Amino acid sequence: MVTELVFATNNKHKLKEVQHIISDKVILLSLADINCYDNIPETADTLEGNALLKARYIKQRYGYNCFADDTGLEVEALNQAPGVYSARYAGEGNDALANMNKLLRQMQGKENRKARFRTAIALIIDDKEYLFEGIINGSVITEKRGEAGFGYDPVFIPDGYIQTFAQMGSELKNQISHRALAVKELATFLSTNPHK
Ligand code: IMP
Repeated sequence: MVTELVFATNNKHKLKEVQHIISDKVILLSLADINCYDNIPETADTLEGNALLKARYIKQRYGYNCFADDTGLEVEALNQAPGVYSARYAGEGNDALANMNKLLRQMQGKENRKARFRTAIALIIDDKEYLFEGIINGSVITEKRGEAGFGYDPVFIPDGYIQTFAQMGSELKNQISHRALAVKELATFLSTNPHK
């Protein structure tokens, strides 16, 4: 049974959100907890590739069993862009406002507004690698709505809802989101596959 896993993140909110979903028999450690302050490369051209790069980096250099995630917004009318480049769509610096404004510009006049958030998680236990995925379908609206959340939340409405992720608040979002779905897959795997 795995009792300790590194989650390759320094985002305390993410760590808490994920620990909430994963059984507390598994203690999650952040990168700071293992004294890792490296700039871990995310140079792959797929979400799965980046998640694997991050997880392998930690496993190889720090020796911990570990998982890492990568998320992107995939817009049908833009051939799945911004996808793996979501954080830097409008340039380096992860400027959420600039990214959203660019997205709204690219979507001007497009009738097909279908989009999805997709999260890939790569898990490494001993020498085995596993991938998990979470997807939420929805659409990109034509203007920003709502203040909560981060990233593209103000311009994304999940299917079956009338509010954007930024309007619905974190409690509901964290129950239905791409990340929550991927983490639930991971949690199910951890609880049903006994590891030594
Ligand atoms: P990360 O892999 O979680 O760091 O996400 C990469 C980028 O995708 C972020 O910088 C955001 O632009 C976008 N993103 C990821 N998750 C969300 C979300 O839940 N809502 C809105 N945007 C997100």
